Amino acid sequence: MRKPFVAGNWKMNMNSQTGVALAQGVAEGAADLAGGSVTVAVIPPFVYLPPVGQAVGSSGVAVGAQDVYFEEKGAFTGEISPAMLKDVGCTYVLCGHSERRHVLGESDELVNKKLLAALGGGLLPILCVGELLEERDASQTEQVVERQIRAGLAGVDAEKMATVTIAYEPVWAIGTGRTATREQAQEVHAFIRKLLAEMYSETLAAEIRIQYGGSVKPGNAKELMSEPDVDGCLVGGASLKVDDFVQIIKAAV
Ligand code: PGA
Repeated sequence: MRKPFVAGNWKMNMNSQTGVALAQGVAEGAADLAGGSVTVAVIPPFVYLPPVGQAVGSSGVAVGAQDVYFEEKGAFTGEISPAMLKDVGCTYVLCGHSERRHVLGESDELVNKKLLAALGGGLLPILCVGELLEERDASQTEQVVERQIRAGLAGVDAEKMATVTIAYEPVWAIGTGRTATREQAQEVHAFIRKLLAEMYSETLAAEIRIQYGGSVKPGNAKELMSEPDVDGCLVGGASLKVDDFVQIIKAAV
């Protein structure tokens, strides 16, 4: 059985005070579930990782980073290595979030290098994939998602793959209030699982968690996560409010 995984991607929001308050609120609100029946993670901006890590303490709420660089150390001004993320208590890291792909210009190849470096550094990557609106309208959703998954996971063996989470986030649903319907989400999630079975094995594909992301709110989380292949959510906007995020975590069980 796959344990549901709900993660809150804060993006470039919050400050040291509001971030700590949010993390404490989530830790308290999710106390009965986090680390037990639901995997819960908060994903703050790099600079708030240490105070947020302290704020969640031993509550069972994990901490993740929004990005990572693929080199171990050296002259890479502005970048953060996997070892640095481990050092400040990070467990998870997003790889290839759509804003990194489409706003910051990351290619599939760069996403793959980051994912491999994250795995090498003992982090648990969340590989984000998803199509643009024009790609969906041109019936290219499966083609795009397949390309992102095959390229993103190049060189990842089965043992490492067992530690990867996939997040399906249709770009047209991110921050737009326009969520995919449960049927649309399930269709792509089932496609991804079939693809993973082809690339690895049925057994491994059945174990991999596939999150849905894109305008997840307390009002739609339950129905999305009740689909058989939707194993949790990657939440942006609604993860910035304790009550909303805690409601979404509760909707996972
Ligand atoms: P959203 O963002 O929930 O604000 O749509 C989701 C994401 O980008 O991970």
